[in-house]
Amino acid sequence: MSRLSLTTLRKMTAAQEKIAVLTAYDASFSHALEEAGIDVILVGDSLGMVVQGQESTVPVTVDDMVYHTANVVRGSEKAFVVADMPFMSYANAEQAIRNAARLMAEGGAQMIKLEGGAVIADTVAQLSARGIPVCAHLGLLPQSVHRLGGYIVQGREAQAAEELMADAINLQQAGADMLVLECVPAELAARVTKELTIPVIGIGAGKECDGQVLVLYDMLGLTPGRRPRFSHDFLADTGAIQAAITKYVQDVKAGTFPGPEQQF
Ligand code: KIV
Ligand code: NA
Repeated sequence: MSRLSLTTLRKMTAAQEKIAVLTAYDASFSHALEEAGIDVILVGDSLGMVVQGQESTVPVTVDDMVYHTANVVRGSEKAFVVADMPFMSYANAEQAIRNAARLMAEGGAQMIKLEGGAVIADTVAQLSARGIPVCAHLGLLPQSVHRLGGYIVQGREAQAAEELMADAINLQQAGADMLVLECVPAELAARVTKELTIPVIGIGAGKECDGQVLVLYDMLGLTPGRRPRFSHDFLADTGAIQAAITKYVQDVKAGTFPGPEQQF
């Protein structure tokens, strides 16, 4: 096994060494990310929007995720590869196990990621018990955008913040090995990161998380429309794709990204 392992990610977190994560969907960018020293590549279902041109991540299928995961795995050798489980591919534990197995066996992912709190805890426990590493995802859940009513910061009210904290603890106890926190106030994300022992990776969640993730095309300034406030155009800073990705990795490692203007 020449790829980075979960054990290494745990050790980095214990040593307070930041984990740099970016999304990728193909072999060329996977290679570019690895050249820049990325720790983790997330094959995000954001590919529904940035690759397929869909309005949300809802239409993405397991076949899509298997295809893109396999492409990313072929493009890299050392990075730890996490694949998203798409909308309704984990509606119950049995279905989740079957689809996670495809992402790992056919796609080559080392870990799979699911969105949600208490409702997925049992599924997380069953995946974990079968040796499938799970990354949970709390805060803004893009697969629930139609219910949330938009891409809005989550956990601002005291009760929502306490619920998120309880979900995070619950998911870690259920066996989650990593947690992504999306669009939550920096102060809440810092509290969750302190409370949990597993690596907490933030996106729009402030600089206190154990690591950071961005959507690749956002940080290259390619995504049409308004860039999310928590992102930053590293290509504009550097003028070249490889330099932009390297700058991101360096800034995450140094703790200088995200800055105050990129957090809530
Ligand atoms: O799909 C994705 O890119 C993600 C990240 C935004 C965390 O889930
Ligand atoms: Na996702």
